[in-house]
Amino acid sequence: MTVLVTDPMDPRLGDFLALTDVQLRRAKEPAEGLFIAEGEKVIRRARQAGYEMRSMLLSAKWVDVMRDVIDEVPAPVYAVDPALAERVTGYHVHRGALASMQRKPLTPADDLLRTARRVAVMESVNDHTNIGAIFRSAAALGMDAVLLSPDCADPLYRRSVKVSVGAVFSVPYARLDSWPKGLAAVREAGFRLRALTPDEKASSMDEAAPHRLDRVALMLGAEGDGLSTKALMAADEWVRIPMAHGVDSLNVGAAAAVAFYAVATGRADV
Ligand SMILES: C[S@@+](CC[C@H](N)C(=O)[O-])C[C@H]1O[C@@H](n2cnc3c(N)ncnc32)[C@H](O)[C@@H]1O
Repeated sequence: MTVLVTDPMDPRLGDFLALTDVQLRRAKEPAEGLFIAEGEKVIRRARQAGYEMRSMLLSAKWVDVMRDVIDEVPAPVYAVDPALAERVTGYHVHRGALASMQRKPLTPADDLLRTARRVAVMESVNDHTNIGAIFRSAAALGMDAVLLSPDCADPLYRRSVKVSVGAVFSVPYARLDSWPKGLAAVREAGFRLRALTPDEKASSMDEAAPHRLDRVALMLGAEGDGLSTKALMAADEWVRIPMAHGVDSLNVGAAAAVAFYAVATGRADV
């Protein structure tokens, strides 16, 4: 059902209200069980991953592009002009298509750990761009799951979803209930915990050869502080990606991509 909406205060557009108000959206989206997918590709990927659509907000020219989706889903579709979309969301919606999707319950960490062999573990990563970039690399480089410390940002926040180009839908993730205590369950499931740190005392990635491990969990810290002392103490080994030109650390997204490649299953043993 496509409905033309001309009033920015129409309550049916409530899911799309004030998308640039990070504080508001951080509270509203998990509480109401929704997240926002932006752009045709990401909306299609969310649907392929089995997320149910609550509603869609489209500017006129996207109605034709999204016709097959409109015909398939029972959700209402609100057609609006770009100026109204901007008034509702708070920004110019370049991609012209937004969908409000229903969250699914997360798989418990123990279930993910039962079958996974390569796991990324993030501590306090609260930048949505970095979360999205890490998920994109995790998907592309064949990581099996992502675990988050309780204070990591939401992978389904609009910016993370967008930066990951929908990869947050392909790699299963879970939030650990306690930190760093929750890492004990990772070790008990047979994983070796490798803390990624630029610290000079760490073994170099080549020496550590984490790709030879049957099950490995790669721990990543946030920009600024990096991994906390308690997280570093909980690890089995510290691993460092060697750097040149006096650079003291990599962005966590870049470090994750290098480390994921280094443990990729099927990587040639160099
Ligand atoms: C910007 S760094 C944090 C820098 C922080 N001052 C520290 O000493 O950890 C963010 C995260 O990326 C990863 N990282 C960055 N550079 C790295 C390197 N050369 N080797 C291994 N991990 C690295 C680590 O997990 C780190 O916690």
